[in-house]
Amino acid sequence: MENILRYVDANASRYLDELKTFLAIPSISTNPENKTDIEQCARWVADHLSTIGMNYVQVFPTEGHPIVYADWLHAPGKPTLLLYGHYDVQPVDPIDLWTSPPFEASIRGENIYARGSADDKGQVFIHLKSIEAYMKNIGSLPLNLKVIIEGEEEIGSEHLAPFVKGHKDLLKADLVLISDTSMFAKGVPSVCYGLRGLSYMQIDLTGPNKDLHSGSFGGSIHNPIQALAEIIAQLHDKHGRVTIPGFYDDVLKLTAKERAAYKKLPWNDKTYAKNLGVPMLYGEKGFTSIERLWARPTLECNGIWGGFTGEGAKTVLPSKASAKISMRLVPNQKADKVAKLFEKYIKKIAPKTVTIDVRYLHGGEAALTPIESPGVQAAVAALEKGFGKKPLYQREGGSIPIVVQFKQLLGLDTVLLGFGLPDENAHAPDEHLNLDNFYGGIRTVMHFYNELPNYMKRK
Ligand code: BES
Ligand code: MN
Ligand code: MN
Repeated sequence: MENILRYVDANASRYLDELKTFLAIPSISTNPENKTDIEQCARWVADHLSTIGMNYVQVFPTEGHPIVYADWLHAPGKPTLLLYGHYDVQPVDPIDLWTSPPFEASIRGENIYARGSADDKGQVFIHLKSIEAYMKNIGSLPLNLKVIIEGEEEIGSEHLAPFVKGHKDLLKADLVLISDTSMFAKGVPSVCYGLRGLSYMQIDLTGPNKDLHSGSFGGSIHNPIQALAEIIAQLHDKHGRVTIPGFYDDVLKLTAKERAAYKKLPWNDKTYAKNLGVPMLYGEKGFTSIERLWARPTLECNGIWGGFTGEGAKTVLPSKASAKISMRLVPNQKADKVAKLFEKYIKKIAPKTVTIDVRYLHGGEAALTPIESPGVQAAVAALEKGFGKKPLYQREGGSIPIVVQFKQLLGLDTVLLGFGLPDENAHAPDEHLNLDNFYGGIRTVMHFYNELPNYMKRK
């Protein structure tokens, strides 16, 4: 291990240069204009996997974006780890708020800034460089490794589950590992044992069959923007609880042990509010901020539009108004079921003065990994070695829907070993990754690969 760790130090600046090349490809999965960039990015990942010594590498086309697969299976008797990550990124708007261009990685202070630096190219690259360090120094890995890097995570992984279903033998493994989450805070490494799920909805309201003069018609017709606002305003009560009937029915309760553990975490509501620039926090009554973020379901309006939004004033009574609304789910809630409850309730409370269309865009279930499992314990040991500190246990509020599918389709548990930080602006301008965590991540992953076989044996 000493030699390999020295190799990482000796090659640290080349690693960064290569990461910059990876980050320069604008692999925005939601933009049809970036289709060729997405394909180029899949190819780049595949070529890199070959370069670092993976044996079998293939780019699988799908009806959406390509899936990159690679394996190295020359550790007989050792467990097989399935590493999952994504090479696609979120759009960059609002572009004006970026300090440096999102696809020209820039190093400032302790961080590398670029779209995808934290979510998830930088974290994928941590693994590629750990693999390289093993291969170039001892010519082998301490376990069998399968790698699957997809290009549709940020848009709901539509074609990944069918791929997994169709390639069960190829993907056969003992455990899934994902680095696509955050540590608790800078200098506070953590292993994540839970993610929330998601039901993503769109509401389209139509009032009159065309835009109208607001003077000639205002007063005789229900403005669809007002109707939409009335609907949205009814979705929470005064205690911050979601009002949809049945919404909380299947929610898995926090255990007393979890609540006690969360109370001990280094968290301060005042600092949190101050950092985010809000005068006061908001959330469901009866729960702490951490509980609300990790273990309680929520409903958020992601966007709302309609009518005139240009410069200056235009008097118009618009024909249409829409909103995108997502609900974060917790264990035992079912995304489809919650989507149906949402649709039913919206249609019930919608005023009779407008026509309404409710659509379910995509969704996925929440995930929980038992913390006593050997994979999680190997991650704890690896983090302690990689960062020189005992990690905390945490959950996350975000979602990676494929985690549950890996369990359902392949019977595999997932270990979430994330190296981002909660304030690294994922999905926002000036996304960045802390470089100490990049190198600490490489060390941790090398220890994880090395330790996992010992922990799996004890199972
Ligand atoms: N890496 C995130 C998931 C994540 C976010 C984990 C925050 C932990 C904390 C992932 O790329 C992501 O953004 N997922 C989407 C879900 C998807 C279905 C669009 C999300 O959580 O919104
Ligand atoms: Mn991600
Ligand atoms: Mn993301």
